[in-house]
Amino acid sequence: MTTTEEIKKGLAGVVVDYTAVSKVNPETNSLLYRGYPVQDLAASKSFEEVALLLWTGELPTQSELTEFTAFERANRALDPRVKAAIDLLPTDCHPMDVGRTAVSVIGANHPEAENSSPEAELLKAKELFAAFPAVVAYDQRRRRGLDVVAPREDLDYSSNFLWMTFGEEAAPEVVDAFRVSMVLYAEHSFNASTFTARVITSTLSDLHSAVTGAIGALKGPLHGGANEAVMHTFTEIGINKDESREDAAKRAKAWMEEALAAKKKVMGFGHRVYKHGDSRVPTMKAALDRMIEHYGRHEMLGLYDGLEAAMDEAKSIKPNLDYPAGPTYHLMGFDTEMFTPIFIAARITGWTSHIFEQRAANALIRPLSAYNGSEQRAL
Ligand code: SDX
Repeated sequence: MTTTEEIKKGLAGVVVDYTAVSKVNPETNSLLYRGYPVQDLAASKSFEEVALLLWTGELPTQSELTEFTAFERANRALDPRVKAAIDLLPTDCHPMDVGRTAVSVIGANHPEAENSSPEAELLKAKELFAAFPAVVAYDQRRRRGLDVVAPREDLDYSSNFLWMTFGEEAAPEVVDAFRVSMVLYAEHSFNASTFTARVITSTLSDLHSAVTGAIGALKGPLHGGANEAVMHTFTEIGINKDESREDAAKRAKAWMEEALAAKKKVMGFGHRVYKHGDSRVPTMKAALDRMIEHYGRHEMLGLYDGLEAAMDEAKSIKPNLDYPAGPTYHLMGFDTEMFTPIFIAARITGWTSHIFEQRAANALIRPLSAYNGSEQRAL
């Protein structure tokens, strides 16, 4: 019989299974993908290489990378059936709903949807990896009254993602900052959306259902939706391109003090596992700094520093990855509501790696509950 003191609300601190995909270590504030520090991967590996590392457990050989790159580039085009489904959705619906719908349509049309062999699952993961950027790119463009931009096979994953979204080639430093964000967003052990994917997989449901469910979990502002919320905070404080960094910081500080006085949760700060700062933030912040230099937007640094300092002073709560990621995507030209769909594109690699792992050593995930309703009574 479970008694109330055994309840772990939110499964906080509960270890439910093994994973070999990644190791989040709050003591050392570190994150390893299959044993490699994420900072090292972000400094030198393409997102394509990191995807293969997460899926297979090893970095690809040159021939494996060449083969996957050719496959990925040949499978980028927006499927007409997916476009038709997206076109049925209003242009003011939440883009996470578009992402969720797109994966469902891909799954419903997939000839191997119910084939859960390791080969079929890896193929479906690679296809989703290749196909999802076109969904994000088209959704942003249709909201602006623009048409589809076809993918280019001469561009790598990150360059092509930006090409399909903006219809022009991005500068190398912008492509690199985007690549860093995808590597950092790829995987993070049993976060809410990944655990959702594992729960769905544990019933032996299919990969597309598990990814669709994970997208539903990622949408929430306590999880992936936080990167959009960070940008809404900056916008609410007011972004003034001519303002000095110092003045912007002052206004941001005042906003944070007011928000905390009102007991508001400020998105982009705090983390369930990391308690001394999110291991990924320094790398993402460095990418944001490069984007601020590239676009000459130093007032953004003032807002960033002001909020961070005020939160640290008041509650010693540190930023999480979403905090530097949001402003970075804003500077690149992505609409704010598109930020979390970009997170989907990255996390498809982590989710599918965990789907494979769950299936390989499965047990139905079904916890207990402590009943506190009415005692038994007669009708
Ligand atoms: C991601 O799990 C993952 O790995 C997720 C992720 C990934 O890669 O998959 O890292 C991605 O989701 C990052 C987190 C993005 N979410 C946000 O930025 C939303 C804002 N953050 C908070 O909601 C919160 O920090 C959580 C939900 C992330 C974690 O919270 P916990 O561990 O459940 O702790 P809590 O909410 O109970 O907070 C503990 C205390 C509370 O104070 P008291 O009420 O006890 O006085 O800290 C306070 C909270 O009020 N607090 C905050 C805060 N975060 C915690 N107060 C204001 N603003 C915040 N952001």
